[in-house]
Amino acid sequence: MGKKGTEISGVDVKELIKDLNRAYADEWLAHFSYLHMARTVTGPGYEDMNEMLEKVAKDEAEHAEEIANRILELGGMPLANINELQNNANASFPMPPKDTTDYKKIIKVVELAEAGAIEVYNKIASKTLGKDHVTYQLITHILSEEVGHEEMFEDLEG
Ligand SMILES: [Fe+2]
Ligand SMILES: [Fe+2]
Repeated sequence: MGKKGTEISGVDVKELIKDLNRAYADEWLAHFSYLHMARTVTGPGYEDMNEMLEKVAKDEAEHAEEIANRILELGGMPLANINELQNNANASFPMPPKDTTDYKKIIKVVELAEAGAIEVYNKIASKTLGKDHVTYQLITHILSEEVGHEEMFEDLEG
């Protein structure tokens, strides 16, 4: 981030970069898990589940990209080592169920990951509110998409 950008930011930039890197790791883990479940899901009506998982997986990849850009703007560096993703994430890897026809479990895996993401982004939003408008705007945009993801999968429970 440039001089003026740093000057107007009222947050602890180092801490913010750490928070953003943790969220960045979460996004990659979710992306990987959802895409894997999209590719492997079977059973009746699997096409719809495949489509939804693929769409949400793409959103998570987009979030990772947006967060990486903000980390760079703040003068930080997004995690470079894929081996460090798990250790730096807020939550553990959203493990796909062994049974690829088990929609209930797939839905649970996604819901748990989304609930975690909502909590994380809510915290970052509170930390940056009125202090770092650029990060705040990005985070609330991502937060609203995570809320949409959670709802999408909750609706499947019927
Ligand atoms: Fe996300
Ligand atoms: Fe999400």
